[in-house]
Amino acid sequence: MSTKLREDRLDGKVCLITGATGGIGQETAKALARGGATLVLSGRDEARTAATVAAVREAAPDARVESLLADLSSLASVRELAQAFRARHSRLDVLINNAGLIIDRRRVTVDGYEATFATNHLSHFLLTHLLRDLLVASGPARILNVSSQGHRLARADFLDDPQTEHHRYDGIRVYGNAKLSNILFTKGLAKRLQGTRVTANALHPGVVRTGFGHNSEGLFRHLVKLAAPFMLSSEQGARTSVYLASSPEVAGVSGEYFIKCRKVKPSSAARDEALAERLWQVSEQLTGVKA
Ligand SMILES: NC(=O)c1ccc[n+]([C@@H]2O[C@H](COP(=O)([O-])OP(=O)(O)OC[C@H]3O[C@@H](n4cnc5c(N)ncnc54)[C@H](OP(=O)(O)O)[C@@H]3O)[C@@H](O)[C@H]2O)c1
Repeated sequence: MSTKLREDRLDGKVCLITGATGGIGQETAKALARGGATLVLSGRDEARTAATVAAVREAAPDARVESLLADLSSLASVRELAQAFRARHSRLDVLINNAGLIIDRRRVTVDGYEATFATNHLSHFLLTHLLRDLLVASGPARILNVSSQGHRLARADFLDDPQTEHHRYDGIRVYGNAKLSNILFTKGLAKRLQGTRVTANALHPGVVRTGFGHNSEGLFRHLVKLAAPFMLSSEQGARTSVYLASSPEVAGVSGEYFIKCRKVKPSSAARDEALAERLWQVSEQLTGVKA
């Protein structure tokens, strides 16, 4: 895969990226900023977020780059993020739900939810809901959900136990459940956005050498270290996100899953409409919104 990111112009467009302090998020931000977009970078750590803003400004000296702090494991913090964004911006053209994590021991968020499901999925479900009217009013607009081929490892019945309270905690499988949720959410969203000028697509960035897995102490971290020499660079890993955010080739394409900038069929569970609807209802209930 080429390391060169294709940069379609995004002058006058406003893009919000979660998990911008990480490898793929940061490289996506740099490319979109070079394309002329105004970037709003969301991070949870003040110093890492400031360093990311500086790195993006260095890559695109003329770009407007801002940041907003939010811990996506907290639904209150997600609400504050949406509010802070709306206080500064009257339009949103591209929302990239990119933040994610994998852990190997069950952790519970301040809201009492399993942390992987809450951070990878619930936060983005709520954020998207809270910004949806802005996206619709700004159309044509795009929503990207950064998923993973790891979705294929999900338990088919994961919604019977979305908080992994009754199953043995297997971090890789729980991550798979959350990444399957990203694709099912994309399907549900695309269906509800029909008739608007907003599209929603999911993607797998590739197997990318980033900080991913640093929250994990076990087998996953060792596997990542072993695989590192064969992995894509963060810049290569950002390629599909940049493509879906900016390429005219995918204007109007919605509800799809992409790998290497190509439409690909995800697992049968990820194409299950009844499961997508069930996830939507569970997500509404857990986030307390009618989306
Ligand atoms: N790397 C891969 O091979 C790979 C493969 C498939 C899919 N993905 C997906 O790609 C996306 C980006 O991952 P990456 O590889 O760039 O990993 P990364 O370097 O670890 O970046 C993950 C980002 O998510 C943020 N994040 C984690 N927990 C958060 C929280 N509670 N609140 C706010 N932000 C939080 C991290 O912030 P901090 O800097 O504060 O930790 C970081 O900015 C993820 O959704 C991941 O699942 C990655």
